Amino acid sequence: MTDLLIKNARPYGEDPTDVLVVDGVVDRIGPGLEAPEDADVLDADGAVLLPGFVDLHVHLREPGGEESETIETGSHAAALGGFTAVFAMPNTDPVADSDVVVEHVHRRGAEIGLVDVHPVGAVTVGLGGERLAEMGTMAGSRAQVRLFSDDGRCVNDPLIMRRALEYARALDAVIAQHAEDHRLTGGAQAHEGAAAARLGLTGWPAAAEETVVARDCALARDAGAALHVCHVSSARTIDVLRTAKAAGVRVTAEVTPHHLLLTDGRLASYDPVHKVNPPLRGADDTRAMREALAEGVIDVVATDHAPHASQYKDTEWEVAKPGMLGLQTALSVLVETMVEPGLLDWRGVARVLSERPAEIGGLPDQGRPVAEGEPATFALVDPDAVWTVRGAALASRASNTPYEGMRLPGAVVATVLRGRVTARDGKVQA
Ligand code: DOR
Ligand code: ZN
Repeated sequence: MTDLLIKNARPYGEDPTDVLVVDGVVDRIGPGLEAPEDADVLDADGAVLLPGFVDLHVHLREPGGEESETIETGSHAAALGGFTAVFAMPNTDPVADSDVVVEHVHRRGAEIGLVDVHPVGAVTVGLGGERLAEMGTMAGSRAQVRLFSDDGRCVNDPLIMRRALEYARALDAVIAQHAEDHRLTGGAQAHEGAAAARLGLTGWPAAAEETVVARDCALARDAGAALHVCHVSSARTIDVLRTAKAAGVRVTAEVTPHHLLLTDGRLASYDPVHKVNPPLRGADDTRAMREALAEGVIDVVATDHAPHASQYKDTEWEVAKPGMLGLQTALSVLVETMVEPGLLDWRGVARVLSERPAEIGGLPDQGRPVAEGEPATFALVDPDAVWTVRGAALASRASNTPYEGMRLPGAVVATVLRGRVTARDGKVQA
């Protein structure tokens, strides 16, 4: 493998330095390093050097949903977004509830080789919510599944959830819950509030999230198991998480970029590009999400990258599928909502986008510090760049971005996975 010399990079935003990578590992860090013969040189030009980003929550749609995304197009989007590992949700067709499907996803990810693709296993057979999937078989497969979720659906039955947590404990795995009491939401897809009322849309009450999280924290406590709460959207849920964490429950939580930035004010356009589950909520909620992320009550940012081909989005609100793209805009939305307002510094960004997600997902060689002897797995970020989002220009097969035409700050200028440059200046390095 060719050596790599990164010149003029600022680790965690600190003073510029050079980083020499040999055999995929950081060999030396210091100013004025000489490039060995034949080494690739990447002039970072003062860009911020962070550990590569890890996304605990993406939908890559393969197998079965290839008109919206494939593992290949999703890997491109991930590399361009600064990600070096992603966890692919199991709501595919067939569902990833067996060793066959998780091994397929894992193998395709490795063949493409741009980002480590870790399949998430389903908790219940076919996401049906009734029978536990073969969690042990998936954990023992070549894909080594460590995260299980029925995402898109909630594991609503408390007894099934309890059993799943008990298995997770035994397998040293994590249950990632899509917290939505379906009896309370009834499939509604707008935040229960003034905006929905004006448009005549049925509301998704925040209590449908809060009550499931409270229940699951109690079940995780009793099982001694690790629970991860997907896409927290309501301020009320934060209080439940804070109390549970203080009591020693093994619970972690994620927030999406869109729940940090966007509110249900977007519904006024009636454009289904803003339809997402859980729904965009009020400004009080986005404020609470930002504060909880800064405080650490919410551990990580995860994108819930949810590509949908245009036939599923360019249609009426009621029938459009929920979800929005996230991989290539995540860093910029985080800069806009957290870095520029002073809620997170670059060490904080590394914590929520790299270190904590790698810990939760059980990835020993991701989210590591930028230091000698560590894997050369990086995202390089130009904090001063400003760019205009164009869905059609994103690498995903679908283009359902809620940020169309918005000018966002901060850009990923390069991504490096174990010494290999996977993206540079907006282009995938195949
Ligand atoms: O908006 C969403 N889209 N929420 C989910 O829980 C599932 C996801 C999808 O698969 O499209
Ligand atoms: Zn979900």
